[in-house]
Amino acid sequence: MTQPSGAAAAPPKERIAVIGGGMMGQACSQAFAMAGFEVRLQSLDDELFRGVKERIRRDLVFIAERGVGSAADVDATVARITTTADLAAALDGAGFVLECIPEDLELKRALFRQVEALAGPEVLLATNTSVIRITEIAEALALPGRFVGAHWWTPAYLMPIVEIIPGEKTAPETVERVTALMAAAGKIPVHVKKDAAGFIGNRLLHCLYREALHIVEEGIADADAVDLVLRYGPGSRFQVMPPFEHMDMVGLDLIVPVENYLWPHLGNESKVGPLLTDKVAAGELGFKSDGVGFRTWSPEEQKAFRERLLDHLARQVAAGALGRPEAHSPHS
Ligand SMILES: NC(=O)c1ccc[n+]([C@@H]2O[C@H](COP(=O)([O-])OP(=O)(O)OC[C@H]3O[C@@H](n4cnc5c(N)ncnc54)[C@H](O)[C@@H]3O)[C@@H](O)[C@H]2O)c1
Repeated sequence: MTQPSGAAAAPPKERIAVIGGGMMGQACSQAFAMAGFEVRLQSLDDELFRGVKERIRRDLVFIAERGVGSAADVDATVARITTTADLAAALDGAGFVLECIPEDLELKRALFRQVEALAGPEVLLATNTSVIRITEIAEALALPGRFVGAHWWTPAYLMPIVEIIPGEKTAPETVERVTALMAAAGKIPVHVKKDAAGFIGNRLLHCLYREALHIVEEGIADADAVDLVLRYGPGSRFQVMPPFEHMDMVGLDLIVPVENYLWPHLGNESKVGPLLTDKVAAGELGFKSDGVGFRTWSPEEQKAFRERLLDHLARQVAAGALGRPEAHSPHS
């Protein structure tokens, strides 16, 4: 996550094209630029572009004040990112393309058809989809061997994990090269063995969200209590005691009766229920609808929330508490 040492012998870094200038596209561009890569960020959203570099600069200063990177490097890091609305210009000279457009299968397929018409066969292509199977997106491609899932976490310039997901036709060499690229970008690449919707992280996270919603819908507890229990209960120790390590510690024989008793009582809905859909129908979407969601957030509270997240993660990264790429084998 820190700037490279700039050793004279280091090979030149390939240029990165990031497609889609929303939250992830901006943050992934920032992550690559922090690691010394030249980035071209392409999006449809001209309006968005006006503020992109200023926002990235602010974030770089904010995290530098907390020990991630250096304030002296901020200008050079921002200068490594160029923005364009022209896809061909973004792809020109790029060795790796990371797609970060909205989570819509047909939109992503259409984009990759365009990308394939413009990029040479040697260019590696990746999607940052959160949940869609890589094989389904790859159906749009003539050369699916050079296409892979590279799933980042938000905020991408601080969160270390990138899940690398091969589609059914992804070449092993593509997985290897993208794994090496993510490590060069200061990330901890994790191989997902099988192309399954949601990969690893989002399967785990959204099964937790389904149960959180289920608990509230069933009247077992309210939303504040759910957040409180997760925040100061199991959530506070996940980093040092994730599930398989926890099971080893307590004894696998004890886990069997607990799971067998509990699982039949857990939510197993296959569709989102009224707790969410009623709010969406009422236009209560959270921060983006004047702060009205499960609770009401003033603009100051929204700002404080975002800063708390960045502050928390930046301090952990600076302390080395979120792992270091060199300490991990890329295999899950
Ligand atoms: N938000 C997250 O926490 C998160 C985390 C990991 C992965 N992802 C995934 O990353 C992708 C992007 O998510 P986001 O949150 O940044 O979305 P977003 O809505 O913030 O940004 C999407 C951007 O893509 C642009 N765009 C739309 N169509 C385009 C096209 N054809 N060509 C170029 N640009 C186009 C939009 O103008 C917008 O700027 C999604 O697949 C999402 O699931 C999101």
